[in-house]
Amino acid sequence: MKKMIPDFERMKHNGEKISMLTAYDYPSAKLVEAAEVDTILVGDSLGMVVLGYDSTVPVTMDEMLHHTKAVRRGAPQTFVITDMPFMSYATLDLALANAGRLIKEGGADAVKLEGGSYIAPIVQALTRVGIPVVGHIGLTPQTASQLGGFKVQGRDVESAKELVADAQAIEQAGAFLVVLEAIPRQLAGHITSSLSIPTIGIGAGLDCDGQVLVYHDILGLFERFKPKFVKQYAQLGQEAIQAIQSYNKEVKASNFPTEEHTFGLSDGVIQKLYGDK
Ligand code: KIV
Repeated sequence: MKKMIPDFERMKHNGEKISMLTAYDYPSAKLVEAAEVDTILVGDSLGMVVLGYDSTVPVTMDEMLHHTKAVRRGAPQTFVITDMPFMSYATLDLALANAGRLIKEGGADAVKLEGGSYIAPIVQALTRVGIPVVGHIGLTPQTASQLGGFKVQGRDVESAKELVADAQAIEQAGAFLVVLEAIPRQLAGHITSSLSIPTIGIGAGLDCDGQVLVYHDILGLFERFKPKFVKQYAQLGQEAIQAIQSYNKEVKASNFPTEEHTFGLSDGVIQKLYGDK
């Protein structure tokens, strides 16, 4: 059965872990739903793992919409959260219009925004008009260059305190979940116990209320780089190359198609077409 916001609240309350995985299209969404993962994130990591960009920055609203629609078709019974791409929530008006499109046209159940206290007024405006919001703090890939690159955040007292304040501001603004990315385990644990909404960690240790990873990372389909927090559960990229090599060899050697993959004509039809020749 499709999990909804009160289910995530209940899961935190009961100490039941929340699983989240990204998906970007119909087939990946179908597999994630079949595996009964609690919620799908149509992450703007789409830009890197599917569209081949160097970062998430170039991802557009049209791309997020296109992929959210496909995910919704593949996973009709799963709670779908879509990332708002860089600059799509730079002002209140933009945020309202774009989040509205992801929900109304894309079929997302909620949207996710990167940023701390400074983003709280936008979170509040969205939740006030009925758009469920997920926060994302710590390492925020859309603004990674301002953070000095893809680095662990909150390692000193000042930045750790800032992240606690950010998490609280996001919760007070009305978010129902918050993603904690690349922060020390003890800080994630502290934030998790100081919030009443669930935390979802990625590179934030075991003490979060749930975990999220990228589909292509856990299946071994993205080899450009592998952060410490990624666990590969399969090497499908290697298997795919082997399968494609086998196909290529069989075509070149005229070993494919065989009779099994070929349609034929009955002798009677052949006779009428070509006579006795
Ligand atoms: O874009 C994404 O996939 C994300 C997660 C990795 C948290 O934001």
